[in-house]
Amino acid sequence: MDAQKKIILDMTCGGRSIWFNKNHPNAVYCDIRQEDHTSFWKSADGRSERFLTVNPDVVCNFTNLPFEDETFYLVVFDPPHLLRAGETSWLVKKYGKLDENWPQMLHDGFCEGMRVLKENGVLIFKWNERDIPAEKVWKAIGQKPLFGHHSGKQLLTFWGCFMKGVK
Ligand SMILES: C[S@@+](CC[C@H](N)C(=O)[O-])C[C@H]1O[C@@H](n2cnc3c(N)ncnc32)[C@H](O)[C@@H]1O
Repeated sequence: MDAQKKIILDMTCGGRSIWFNKNHPNAVYCDIRQEDHTSFWKSADGRSERFLTVNPDVVCNFTNLPFEDETFYLVVFDPPHLLRAGETSWLVKKYGKLDENWPQMLHDGFCEGMRVLKENGVLIFKWNERDIPAEKVWKAIGQKPLFGHHSGKQLLTFWGCFMKGVK
């Protein structure tokens, strides 16, 4: 297979922290924002310094992806999950924040991810249940994953697997 063929879409790449190879040749990295400089954040106690670079290949909104139908074999959807975090917190800088319209936004994003997937392609949905239980998300998008797994210290992160055309 052509090593440069873009067959994987990361709809919400952020700082690409989930990727082992952050510049995978088969992936297209998207996000709604571009911070092609390294941003700097200092914690309230002044002891913590963190760096974040968000540098997508394509800047776009996941509710309106600029790709043809049935383009990708694998789509990664890791949308913001925070409702109640402070605007200036590190978590919001890193992951973004939802507003009250989140059910519609996640629904539309999921539909777009499915639209650009090839038939029987796989969508990996990463969610964190800190503010919203995953069950409410599945209700909003109208579908449950085929299977999934909780992870993280407090088991709040959930990785769910969907396949286009299979419910
Ligand atoms: C949970 S973070 C993703 C973290 C990322 N997977 C990583 O490995 O670091 C969610 C990302 O979605 C982006 N985002 C929020 N709303 C978006 C939208 N409407 N369209 C595209 N990206 C969006 C945010 O800018 C943020 O970088």
